[in-house]
Amino acid sequence: MPDSVPPFTLVDVPGAVPLLGHLGAFKKQPLEMLSAWWRQHGDALRFRLGPKTFYLFSHPDLAEEILVKQSDRFVKVYNPRRPHGLALVLGNGLVTSSGEIWKRHRRVIQPIFHRSRMAAMADRMAQVGEQRVAAWKDREGSTIDIAAEMMQLALEVISQTMFTTSMAQHIERISHALRVSIKYAFDSFSNPLFLPLWMPTARNREFHSEMRFMDGLMYGLLTERRRSGAHYDDLLDLLLQARDEETGEGLSDQELRDEALTIFAAGHETTANALSWTWYLLATHPEAKARFHEEVDRVLQGRTPTADDLQHLPYTRAVFDESLRLYPPAPAVHRKAATNTTVGGVSLPEGAFVLVGTYNLHRHPDFWPNPEQFQPEQWLNGERPSSRYAYMPFGAGPRTCVGLHFASVEGPLLLALIGRHYDLNLAQDKVEAHLMVTLRPKDGILMTLQPRKMPVASPARLPVPNTGELS
Ligand code: HEM
Repeated sequence: MPDSVPPFTLVDVPGAVPLLGHLGAFKKQPLEMLSAWWRQHGDALRFRLGPKTFYLFSHPDLAEEILVKQSDRFVKVYNPRRPHGLALVLGNGLVTSSGEIWKRHRRVIQPIFHRSRMAAMADRMAQVGEQRVAAWKDREGSTIDIAAEMMQLALEVISQTMFTTSMAQHIERISHALRVSIKYAFDSFSNPLFLPLWMPTARNREFHSEMRFMDGLMYGLLTERRRSGAHYDDLLDLLLQARDEETGEGLSDQELRDEALTIFAAGHETTANALSWTWYLLATHPEAKARFHEEVDRVLQGRTPTADDLQHLPYTRAVFDESLRLYPPAPAVHRKAATNTTVGGVSLPEGAFVLVGTYNLHRHPDFWPNPEQFQPEQWLNGERPSSRYAYMPFGAGPRTCVGLHFASVEGPLLLALIGRHYDLNLAQDKVEAHLMVTLRPKDGILMTLQPRKMPVASPARLPVPNTGELS
């Protein structure tokens, strides 16, 4: 396919040292480096981490070229025969697989996220949210780490909606296991000096131990569902019932484990980070927070939110969308060139590693009037940036996030639910963003949990036709 984008000039990031390239600076501050290099040197860059050469593209035209127009030439970086990075944790699940396996599994999994299922999912999300909020009752007035709380809340939402089971009693252990294993995966990928998995180092042993725990949990879920013979019409049922169109065979246990763990991990970590950053942005922008609380009180009148309420909460949605712009949970999308090709006039050799810098796109001054400022209002007047790919928190092209609709319901719904009960105020001076596959608040975010005076609950709203986001 011809490269249809006007030429860009490829700039080599200065400061590479022999052998290591830019590894020293990148290892210390990956997000800061990706952003600073772009600001200083432009939209098409090349840098080196040890022996690996990376291309960083931070312009919507280049993003479209890589993820949409030439999506067949830019593949995922993982090789199922020699797993590394995220594939060490997620195996050959939807995030890490390619080719026919990916296509087949996406066909199996996609229907669970259909919009028609979202109202029922929203009720379950709200139930889980109310339970979590009820557990905060005796911590009112005290300080909580909202990032840890959102991680646990999102984890329970995914367990209940996808697997119809509660993970509440294991939640801290699971959060820990995923944090350790994802950090391991990220470091092993971005640091070529990382010691191989078979070496008996303390870190490798810890990784193996956490993975054994997660495997036990996933296989336990499968065994229990098979044993009980129960049907819940959830993701687990879809995975267990899936049959190959040609051979009639079901997914192997390993495939089931990989897909279950993938949805488990991808389905909570991103949303949890998005929610945490949103609370941070609201806490640091009191006018926006007041407007958000006003909308929530007026629309909900003291009720638990439902999917129908979301169309009446445009400001809450705008706050969430704007938070995804400033702090995209997936700040870079990673691909490998499957063949020699050209993007925006830049030649890429087969095997080149490419990063589409979502974080940079979302703050690009050519596409956003006040790129660094938190301005939820800009989502209310219907205006959008001149390029569709200047905003892509859920990715773009065939590998767009499968959980997009789910997250678009879950985010605003949980914001409204929590905002109805509590006023969250920042209880620390500085919050740092840290890139570790996703964009996390580095050491959590401490906030005081201030109960709000609730409006008296009015009778449930009469059903409203679904005309907005969920129709
Ligand atoms: C705010 C929340 C979320 C954000 C920002 C987000 C972001 C993304 C992005 C950027 C990708 C594309 C990665 C790439 O192209 O390499 C992706 C893929 C994916 N996401 Fe999400 N995600 C979110 C929530 C969810 C949820 C709730 C689920 C599941 C319940 C989920 C499951 C997945 C899966 C399985 C993929 C791989 C899809 C494929 O390659 O076919 N995500 N997500």
